[in-house]
Amino acid sequence: MSHSSQPRPHTFTAGGALKGTIRVPGDKSISHRSIMLGALAIGETRVTGLLEGEDVMSTAAAMRAMGATIEKQPDGEWVINGVGVGGLLQPETALDMGNSGTSTRLLMGLVSSHAITATFVGDASLSKRPMGRVIDPLSSMGAQFTASEGGRLPLTMQGAQPAVPITYRLPVASAQVKSAILLAGLNTPGITTVIEPVPTRDHSERMLQGFGADLTVEEENGERVIRIRGEANLTGQTITVPGDPSSAAFFIVAALIVPGSDVLIENVGLNPTRAGIVTVLRQMGGSIEEVSPRIVGGEPVADLRVRHSALKGINVDPAVVPSMVDEFPVLFVAAALAEGRTVCTGLEELRVKESDRITVMREALELAGATLHETEDGMVIDGTAGAPLPGGNKAPVVTHLDHRIAMSMAVAGLASTGGVAIDDVSPIATSFPNFMPLMAGLVAA
Ligand code: S3P
Repeated sequence: MSHSSQPRPHTFTAGGALKGTIRVPGDKSISHRSIMLGALAIGETRVTGLLEGEDVMSTAAAMRAMGATIEKQPDGEWVINGVGVGGLLQPETALDMGNSGTSTRLLMGLVSSHAITATFVGDASLSKRPMGRVIDPLSSMGAQFTASEGGRLPLTMQGAQPAVPITYRLPVASAQVKSAILLAGLNTPGITTVIEPVPTRDHSERMLQGFGADLTVEEENGERVIRIRGEANLTGQTITVPGDPSSAAFFIVAALIVPGSDVLIENVGLNPTRAGIVTVLRQMGGSIEEVSPRIVGGEPVADLRVRHSALKGINVDPAVVPSMVDEFPVLFVAAALAEGRTVCTGLEELRVKESDRITVMREALELAGATLHETEDGMVIDGTAGAPLPGGNKAPVVTHLDHRIAMSMAVAGLASTGGVAIDDVSPIATSFPNFMPLMAGLVAA
């Protein structure tokens, strides 16, 4: 699913207040994991609310290539028939991961404890991203790798059978690395342990327990210690995927910064390991009300009513970074419209996302006329106190195949005088295929 098609430039302009009710697509992290665990379970897994973005479809294609049956029903439900843990088949061709780091790193973990040799390829953005962070622990478990320079894609892995259980303390706060090791542990005899000094999103732990894996989570000396016993048996489940807070974040910020806005975003996942953006925007003075909080598919969910607010710059606590790691690009946009200075630190991981999100957002917001500068590990932004950004950039924002840069700058365009031109909106389809019509609908309402 690489973006071989022509770039699609677009200019996002202000269209007045955002009003109405929307529902964002299913959570990307939970969607990937539903497909992977469904494909490994015995029996049938039924998934409603699956995100049908390109990234998740890359995961589905890979699991099909290794033997699972994955089909969409006419009513929109997805049905997966798994092969059983240990039952993955040798894929006949390279696994195309498109733009998706989550597919790549989690599947590398899954495959590493199977007697499979698999080649992983991806688009230009993914091929620049570091895989050493999963190659290291999976090598200790016995898998063997031939990677491109710097531990990058394309790479070929020879899985270990049997793999060896390890105890691994995460050197970076990464749910992808944690999940890769836990998924490898599923087909590894004995107890595989991951120690998390800093907690990251816990969807893998929740879902592995839900599918019946023997997985425990304990606090020890201020760290999270996760243990999984292999070889596991997983049983097919019925899953309802909540709306993605990372997708909702674009509309939350849009409603906060465009005067007169009042929007209800239904069914937003608010797992505490993901909800940092709501906390931070409230600290800045944002009016975000949780309506009908409930549990959906084992995850906390609420409808969010968001109203235009006078935002104030703050020093963002670096401790929240893991719980909003994907939301900083759009937070920078909010800060660019706030009164006073916003300082973000501890963002070194942003440099190895789909693009270097510190430099790329600094360049993008400068083109839109914002006042900001980047630091080694963060950003300092001096806001307009609610005045629209000048916009009117002749040279378009360069998105570098990064969906979140495109959507963040679309939001900036809504709060600009001259509009914000973007070089390519096609990457948005990786995580949020209906972003443009949803936004147009809210502005027109
Ligand atoms: C994800 C983890 C995060 C996040 C990514 C999805 C996941 O990556 O940025 O979009 O589903 O586990 P890291 O683990 O690299 O922080």
